[in-house]
Amino acid sequence: MSKENKQTLEVYQKTAHIYLENNETHDAMDIEKAKKKKEALETLIKESFKGLEEHAKVLEIGSADGINAAYIQSLGYDVTASDVADDFLKEIRKRNLKTIRFNVLEDDFMEKYYAVFCWRVFVHFTKEDALKIIKKVYDNLEENGIFLFNAINKETKSVEEEWIDFEGEYHMGQKRYYHYFSQEDLDDIIAQTNFHIKDFHKEGGENHNKWLVYTLQKKESINQK
Ligand SMILES: C[S@@+](CC[C@H](N)C(=O)[O-])C[C@H]1O[C@@H](n2cnc3c(N)ncnc32)[C@H](O)[C@@H]1O
Repeated sequence: MSKENKQTLEVYQKTAHIYLENNETHDAMDIEKAKKKKEALETLIKESFKGLEEHAKVLEIGSADGINAAYIQSLGYDVTASDVADDFLKEIRKRNLKTIRFNVLEDDFMEKYYAVFCWRVFVHFTKEDALKIIKKVYDNLEENGIFLFNAINKETKSVEEEWIDFEGEYHMGQKRYYHYFSQEDLDDIIAQTNFHIKDFHKEGGENHNKWLVYTLQKKESINQK
């Protein structure tokens, strides 16, 4: 795993409780906006997973507060939420979700899934980490399985990577590593795997292009790379 991700996880281990408090403060600042964002994400998850069978096994990587995993469970899927920091794991368990400590760069998958969801986590990965994870998820998905993830679009930033502790409501007291990907970067990385890009779009921010959103599908039988 990269030293960038390792150090960022050390920061989360110390500050996850602040992150959880900040999440609430941030949403309370504009309740209507937070509600719309939540609804848009729920629609995306529902649409992306609609081909899955009832009770299909789904893994979320980097669940933090577990809200999205709880939504996935409410759709009838057999969800496993995961994270690395103790306070996140405690928070997720409060929601009665199946919960595992799982560092996607270090740990082996214990089972195969029909879908993997990884939201706002690629922000903490180098390009090498990203390739490793996408390959690893591919290997641990069932045939036709879905990998839904997003990354911050480099187009909207002046640098490719930085260590930053945001001002205002996202202030954590310590810097985290942020990497911003271009669509070309991610397309190149994905092309080194057997994944098929089922859907891609940009969303969020003032120009609706802050996030690159990928729905990948495992198509072993047609790709055979
Ligand atoms: C910005 S937060 C996003 C949390 C949540 N997915 C959301 O959208 O609210 C990034 C999360 O990624 C997790 N994370 C970072 N590196 C990870 C790794 N190598 N394996 C698993 N989780 C990781 C952090 O612990 C943190 O929960």
